[in-house]
Amino acid sequence: MKKILITGGAGFIGSHVVRRFVNTYPNYQIVNLDKLTYAGNLANLKDVENQPNYRFVKIDIIDAQAINELFAEENFDAVIHLAAESHVDRSIVDPTAFVMTNVIGTVNLLNAAREYWKGAYDQKRFYHVSTDEVYGALGETGMFTETTAYDPHSPYSASKASSDHFVRAYHDTYGMDCVISNCSNNYGSHHFPEKLIPLAINNIKNNKPVPVYGKGENVRDWLWVEDHARAIDVIFHQAKTGETYNIGGHNEWKNIDLIHLLCKIMDKKLGRKEGESAELITFVTDRAGHDLRYAIDSTKLQKELDWVPSLQFEEGLEKTVDWYLANDEWLNNVTSGNYQSYYEKQYKNR
Ligand code: NAD
Ligand code: TYD
Repeated sequence: MKKILITGGAGFIGSHVVRRFVNTYPNYQIVNLDKLTYAGNLANLKDVENQPNYRFVKIDIIDAQAINELFAEENFDAVIHLAAESHVDRSIVDPTAFVMTNVIGTVNLLNAAREYWKGAYDQKRFYHVSTDEVYGALGETGMFTETTAYDPHSPYSASKASSDHFVRAYHDTYGMDCVISNCSNNYGSHHFPEKLIPLAINNIKNNKPVPVYGKGENVRDWLWVEDHARAIDVIFHQAKTGETYNIGGHNEWKNIDLIHLLCKIMDKKLGRKEGESAELITFVTDRAGHDLRYAIDSTKLQKELDWVPSLQFEEGLEKTVDWYLANDEWLNNVTSGNYQSYYEKQYKNR
């Protein structure tokens, strides 16, 4: 029996990781810690919430005392840390919130692990889930590898870079077993409709303008979220201590090309005439400091741990659209704010 603390499990990627671990490892006890910010939605985990090997705790990782009490109460074998403020546009408006959660929150978790795991560091693991955005921006060519120097530009990526450095510092200084992965942009089900793909799906569905920043020439490298969750599983179980792995799908798309593909899929699914959804594309003021291009070289992960992405992008995007169109209630609850009462209704008196 292993007891694993997964933070940020009510969010987009975290919910896929929690679902995968709860279902794949019935002999593990999974504790999902989440503050339930606007991005946390326990309805994401409806299908596993009654499993005997799953428990939810509502805690803010900024609250060191609450974290310490949880570590004192539960003898965790490992932490998989995903809780974060994750949206670049929000970080431009309020950088401090990103420092608090992404930097201070991570250090609070590291401190608890350092204290409560003393004498047993070789039997415990702290896995930090991070982003390729820490490497900065690429020009027309090249890819990020695990040895690319950190060069973050946005307050979001600066806060994630800082937390990565702290995780490495705790490995190097205290001998804790820490691993890190840096992943490219994810897409798939349960994605909060403020990020490009779910926002565009929601707007196209509702005949609202689809905002494309600048000329739409920025490039992102998109990965199916379930492939990310599988990579996390593989790295968690197989990586040597102190290792870092880049995770990506070798799947670069200019934003404008991606949006055109999405419009084509939506026309087909909604029975619209070809080209109708594309009329919603609206070029808007560019994001400040907008990174031009991200591209991940995941050769190390593929060679050492035998992980490869499972889905072609067109197939994954179509599946994603199908999920949003079939889950009107989820989308309506998220856009209306109703999802925030799910905790009160389903969990408060457990
Ligand atoms: P998300 O915004 O969907 O979810 C974040 C979760 O963390 C939410 O459930 C939220 O309630 C929780 N949270 C936020 N602040 C908290 C706090 N102070 N205490 C406790 N919980 C808190 O994010 P996501 O897209 O699922 O990303 C998860 C992780 O993966 C993040 O660390 C992010 O940096 C990283 N990542 C994301 C992507 C991507 O494309 N989305 C790519 C690479 C890495
Ligand atoms: P986003 O989904 O916010 O992820 P990130 O900034 O972490 O890569 O944005 C993906 C790309 O899409 C990025 O280049 C910014 C752009 N974008 C738009 O053009 N319009 C939008 O409404 C949003 C949210 C993003």
